[in-house]
Amino acid sequence: MSSIKVLLAFALGASNALAQPADPCAKIGGQKWIAPADLRACFTSFPVDPVIKENIIEVINKTLGFHTSTNYQIQAPHPFDRDVREDVLADLSRIRRRSRKSDCDLHIDFSRTLKRLNDGHCTWTNNCYDSLFLNYLPIPLVLLTDARGTQSVHIAPAAFDVSTADFPNQIQVWQDALPGNLKGKLSTLSGANVLQINNEDPFVAVNANAAITGSYQSFGTRQNSFFSSYQSAPTGWMYIIGNFTQQALPLHDNAELTLQVSGSIKPIRIKLPFRARNGPNTVAFTNSTTFRQNNCVARPTTNGIDINSLMDHAPIPNVDLPLTLQPPSSLPGSGGTAARFYLLKDRVTGVLALGSFLDVSYEALLESLYTGLVDLKERGAKRLVIDVLLDMPGFVCIAHLVGAKATTVPQAGLYTTARAGPLDQEIVSVLNRDPSIDSTLSLFYNPLAWRNITNEFFDADDHWLRPVVRKVINGRQDAFSPRLGQECQPQGFLIPPPEEGLFDAKQSVIVSNGRCHLQISITENGGTRNVVVGGKKDVKQHFCGVIGGQSTNFRQMDTEVKSTGLKDHSLAPPDLLVNGGQGITWRLGFGIKNPAEPAEWQDHTATINLPLTVQTSNNPQAIWEEVVKRVFTV
Ligand SMILES: *[C@@H]1O[C@H](CO)[C@@H](O)[C@H](O)[C@H]1NC(C)=O
Ligand SMILES: *[C@@H]1O[C@H](CO)[C@@H](O)[C@H](O)[C@H]1NC(C)=O
Ligand SMILES: *[C@@H]1O[C@H](CO)[C@@H](O)[C@H](O)[C@H]1NC(C)=O
Ligand SMILES: *[C@@H]1O[C@H](CO)[C@@H](O)[C@H](O)[C@H]1NC(C)=O
Repeated sequence: MSSIKVLLAFALGASNALAQPADPCAKIGGQKWIAPADLRACFTSFPVDPVIKENIIEVINKTLGFHTSTNYQIQAPHPFDRDVREDVLADLSRIRRRSRKSDCDLHIDFSRTLKRLNDGHCTWTNNCYDSLFLNYLPIPLVLLTDARGTQSVHIAPAAFDVSTADFPNQIQVWQDALPGNLKGKLSTLSGANVLQINNEDPFVAVNANAAITGSYQSFGTRQNSFFSSYQSAPTGWMYIIGNFTQQALPLHDNAELTLQVSGSIKPIRIKLPFRARNGPNTVAFTNSTTFRQNNCVARPTTNGIDINSLMDHAPIPNVDLPLTLQPPSSLPGSGGTAARFYLLKDRVTGVLALGSFLDVSYEALLESLYTGLVDLKERGAKRLVIDVLLDMPGFVCIAHLVGAKATTVPQAGLYTTARAGPLDQEIVSVLNRDPSIDSTLSLFYNPLAWRNITNEFFDADDHWLRPVVRKVINGRQDAFSPRLGQECQPQGFLIPPPEEGLFDAKQSVIVSNGRCHLQISITENGGTRNVVVGGKKDVKQHFCGVIGGQSTNFRQMDTEVKSTGLKDHSLAPPDLLVNGGQGITWRLGFGIKNPAEPAEWQDHTATINLPLTVQTSNNPQAIWEEVVKRVFTV
């Protein structure tokens, strides 16, 4: 009897297995490195769930109600009129009407729609897909300029060192994929001139990436994202391999390249497979059910909390800059993890390399910057190179330490404004009535957190969003708070700003890749020059890639709403059902050159676009020395 049951069960199981296609997520479950096609098969095996689709639309739509720039971004003013023209709310309606084959296809539509804003503060991320696995090639690229000024795309000279360090277990797969007698000789490709990518001029691929990578307003900055770069991180100097060799979604299986390798006359053609590696936040799964459960549904941290009851999804770089490219050790006492100091061989040029601020307190950062700069001066530095080759949240107030004080008066920070729609106003009214809701000053709408136009703090019963400033932007009615004061001086600046700036702004130069935003106040206040490294020479390079004012996300806004008991308000976003998030600019910074208009839309053209060569590419010290040659004539 029981054996018949077993047989029957076996027969039923077997016929089920035959009738049902294999689970595409089970195939990749538990694996570290996989083929992108297999990942795609898993990702695209889930149909669109109409409830989830509508939930995401509603969360994004209503969170954008708190985003200062939605109406500006419909058609940005000159000089960004060609870079930013996305009516995101209209596009959400389009997404609602359009049907998609899979939940993954739907996600790509959401993600690209928000990325078209080219605003790194305002992106939609769904951790079910974005960077769950990263799609890699072992050949980061650089844009090099030769002695005659001709620019061409190359495989980075350090490519092989970097990929063997980062992908020790996969390198053989790529070695074996090389054709004929190149097999096993991946190292010989380092430095090769890339004549074509997928049978077209390399800039076709560069520009295709610039169209979808998002984050930075300026086209030049988005072009440069394709190539490798470096950054100073808390753990040391890191190599960023760039968008060509690292992708957040498994959309490509191979790259075909036509190369001119040094020492060979005939160009060679290679085809390398992309390989996908699971990311640091992937929760292990065994099949479709556990993939969805572990990675795709909302987590305890997805939605906001009621504080009384008690999140650019950019992957963290984890490849060290090869030793041959690293600057010598920094000066003793180099401050904290965020700042490193160097004195160049000329003994008169100091270098301040700024890294990620995320792990240090603002006070510790100011302290370390101040002591480090004073130490540089004591060692004889007369001029300063500030290297900010990274993508970091800007703390504009530190500008005080650099440029002459006269130029940072009344302040180095930006004046700002927040949006003042009916829900925003209601949140402040609730807090006015009952300040005890937020005794710890955790809520963004707490009046006590902000200063009025004369830089005095508001009182608990001030309705700081009123009188509302009405504007018509791109034909849409909009409403903002009165102009808010800045937060650098005097109370916000714990160390009293030096009487004189520590370095003359004209003897300071900022080196960047255009991705950060701190330098705007240093530059526009004091006349410090700006160098952007490695851009295409006929493309205008902007030194400021993303300027907001203050950025935050759906979760914080949901916390504001829940803590003030306004979750039922018709404009309040519902709880998000998926493991995702929406970023926003919550306060918009006004410009320094033109204080009447948002800084975001003002021209930030770099003084110099520094061409990179074989010697200088991704070599910080060589870049600093080249900058000194070009910028300081004495
Ligand atoms: C966004 O929300 C507003 C306010 O509730 C609503 O009028 C509008 O139709 C919504 N748009 C979309 C695309 O859902
Ligand atoms: C998926 O995997 C989990 C845990 O490994 C297991 O309990 C479950 O039965 C599996 N589901 C299916 C449909 O195979
Ligand atoms: C693409 O490049 C930009 C700029 O460096 C970076 O912020 C983004 O994280 C990159 N995307 C991926 C998937 O690495
Ligand atoms: C700013 O706040 C201070 C202190 O409450 C007040 O005296 C001043 O009039 C305010 N300034 C403006 C322009 O409202």
